[in-house]
Amino acid sequence: MPEQCRYYVLGAFILGVALTAAYNKQASHQVSEDASSNRLLKQQQKLISKFARIDDLDTLKKSLLELESSFGTGTDTIKEGVEGCIGDTPLIKIKSLSDYTGCEILAKAEFLNGAGNSPKDRVALNIIDVAEGKGLLVPHSGDTIYEGTVGSTGISLAAICRARGYKAHICMPNDMAIEKSDLLLKLGAEVERVRPAPIVDQNQFVNLARTRAAEHTSNPDKPGRGLFADQFETEANWRAHFTGTGPEIYEQTGGFLDAFVSGAGTGGTISGVALYLKSKLPDLKVVLADPPGSGLFNRVKYGVMFDPKEREGTRRRHQVDTIIEGIGINRVTHNFDIGRELIDDAIRVNDDQAVGMARWLVEHDGIFVGSSSAVNCVAAMRLAKMLGPGHRIVTILCDSGARHLSKFWKTETIGGAEDDVSLEGILDA
Ligand SMILES: Cc1ncc(COP(=O)(O)O)c(C=O)c1O
Repeated sequence: MPEQCRYYVLGAFILGVALTAAYNKQASHQVSEDASSNRLLKQQQKLISKFARIDDLDTLKKSLLELESSFGTGTDTIKEGVEGCIGDTPLIKIKSLSDYTGCEILAKAEFLNGAGNSPKDRVALNIIDVAEGKGLLVPHSGDTIYEGTVGSTGISLAAICRARGYKAHICMPNDMAIEKSDLLLKLGAEVERVRPAPIVDQNQFVNLARTRAAEHTSNPDKPGRGLFADQFETEANWRAHFTGTGPEIYEQTGGFLDAFVSGAGTGGTISGVALYLKSKLPDLKVVLADPPGSGLFNRVKYGVMFDPKEREGTRRRHQVDTIIEGIGINRVTHNFDIGRELIDDAIRVNDDQAVGMARWLVEHDGIFVGSSSAVNCVAAMRLAKMLGPGHRIVTILCDSGARHLSKFWKTETIGGAEDDVSLEGILDA
């Protein structure tokens, strides 16, 4: 294990001990309070579901009074702005996949983060908090955050920038689903859609965002300064998952899980979660879910980054076409590298498998997700079959299918289709 990685695992362990101690201390004061408020909540939920079955108005009014008398002062449930709606996402048991595999397949519903509706909310908030802490951003001064993103990070940054008094300027490849750039424009961000290009090209979307930030700062006619968010390389990315997503999964599962499965775009999610969870559960299996055309699968499985035909810098265009957005990359970013040694295995998922899984999740579980979430679920199911029944696997649901209507979901229709495939068929696609 490289020195840096060892340092972070140790750091994770110490943080884990500190968080657990703090949590236990708080918990000992709060345990009875929490138990009774949970009981109350359950009671209220029962009453509310009873309401749906009441036809008689007088009985309904009586039941409402009963419910009102159980309300507390309520102030502790109020969130402090949109930033307060980030994190603490639910962990959902995907029933159809769990029943089929005999494993418990649990998914962290990151699409329920409340600003930009993806795990990138955590990252964007951390980037802005860190920059504010260093005095690099002044609200309402014209300060602008520049980012190269396939969409999700840009959407999260744009929303939080609005809440904090900054501007957002987003550079993204022009082959990403159009609804993402439409949404960015509605959030008031400036958007540059550029031709897909390898990282050696100065007009590649990440390089362009870095250049635009520098141009802003050096332009005396432009108010404020430009700040390059740099999600692929910044420490603020994996740390958001190390201090948020990882501890939440640990707490929500009570520390009982056998494997964590995730795709990697910047690598922040898989690294941050792996660094935290492996410090608590050294035997945990961490598995990368990788889409077509990504070099990470080979990096994890065989220690070499590139399939020669996929290497960035040897070509001007993408050689492998995929409709999967947000995950898969052909370079080792800092955010992937920091947790690389902790990734035990990789599973390749193709477009047909991902589309089949996305359809399956809607048809059988009412869960409507985008392409990277579908890839994660295919990999989680394949891993469940490899491990055998009785294991508990956690994965991530990154964003909603609504972000993918014009591309990933374009040709799919749902509802009683005769060609409805089996899960076995999805794995074989
Ligand atoms: C929809 C979606 N899913 C997953 C990811 C990957 O997450 P990470 O960058 O933490 O590897 C991204 C990254 O942008 C994304 O946009």
